[in-house]
Amino acid sequence: MKLTIDDVRSRFIKHFDGTTGTVYAAPGRINLIGEHTDYNGGFVFPGAVEQGIIAELKPNGTRLIKAYSIDLKDYYEFSLDDEKGPRSTHFRYIFGVAKEMMKLGVKVEGFNIAFAGDVPQGSGMSSSAALESCVAYALNDTFNGNIDPMTLAKVGQATEHNYVGVKCGIMDQFAAMHGKKNNLMRLDCRSGEFEYFPWQPKGYKLVLINSCVKHELVGSPYNERRESCERVVAAVKAFKPEAETLRDCTWEDLEKVKEQISEVDYRRAKFVLGEVDRVLAVCEALKQNDYETVGEKMYETHDGLSKDYEVSCEETDYLVDIARDCGVSGARIMGGGFGGCTINLVQKDLYPTFIEQVKANYNEKFGKACKIIDVVIGDGARKLC
Ligand code: GLA
Repeated sequence: MKLTIDDVRSRFIKHFDGTTGTVYAAPGRINLIGEHTDYNGGFVFPGAVEQGIIAELKPNGTRLIKAYSIDLKDYYEFSLDDEKGPRSTHFRYIFGVAKEMMKLGVKVEGFNIAFAGDVPQGSGMSSSAALESCVAYALNDTFNGNIDPMTLAKVGQATEHNYVGVKCGIMDQFAAMHGKKNNLMRLDCRSGEFEYFPWQPKGYKLVLINSCVKHELVGSPYNERRESCERVVAAVKAFKPEAETLRDCTWEDLEKVKEQISEVDYRRAKFVLGEVDRVLAVCEALKQNDYETVGEKMYETHDGLSKDYEVSCEETDYLVDIARDCGVSGARIMGGGFGGCTINLVQKDLYPTFIEQVKANYNEKFGKACKIIDVVIGDGARKLC
């Protein structure tokens, strides 16, 4: 079921004494290729999806944020002047964004907010970035912040770092802010430059298969992966002081430090260097409409994420194996990892057979259902009414 403005407005009216505010939306995202490259200064290739967060917001003339989560039926009030803020993660996102906006000099005042989402949580589709980006966009608009979209994306990222404890990169919030219907985006996370790539592949469909293993980055080994990468950069820095991230390290640099770093860190870095190359290879292939090469690279990414970066799990590995067995062009685990969705590039004529097989096999093996999500590339954060 698709979330509508009215789903949110009717709740806002009910909870905030018959008033109405302004309604905003921000999307979740997919990522065709380029995983765990963002915090390494590499390339990513995301696109916004139709699913997202809708939030209605109205200033209330106090210093309080009065927030209602429609999905969780949870209401909480907290002050903009609090140091620590609320404990529940969904409210911390709102608190963190408001605080980070204030750091940038935006004169945020108290507000009422009701919000709901249709991005499946823990699916690797960035439901949290959708919420952060929706609130950042809304506060910027409501309190005349005049802040550009990339800085708003960084507000969401800083919220993850400073209020949630996930040392994420910029991909998710970037995609939520900059998404454009029927376009993917290649972002260079080192320079911040990006380019839109129209995405309407002839003869292929993108489909997500949600393993329904909830991926949770808070408290997960996500931050440890980042630390592995940073240790490798520190070793390279000894002879190449200008190296800031793995993006600045070559394959030769990596070989030079191989003996000084752990075998695990070496494998992590090897994956990242390969992944940066794969994004560029995919862009070249897309220019030639060569979707088979795109798919091959996706499988390579999955193998790297599974064996070298070790962020897959039994269920997502199995989903990719089924795709391979069915002859699907490309498949891989998507997002931070540890569960969530696989993204599949499927030939249109194979689609019905693949979906049937994947549902039946998954059910048989794990005794539970996986969920099919057809990808529709949508717009980024915006005002709805
Ligand atoms: C999560 C993070 C992103 C990115 C991906 C992996 O979604 O939020 O910044 O690192 O994992 O590519």
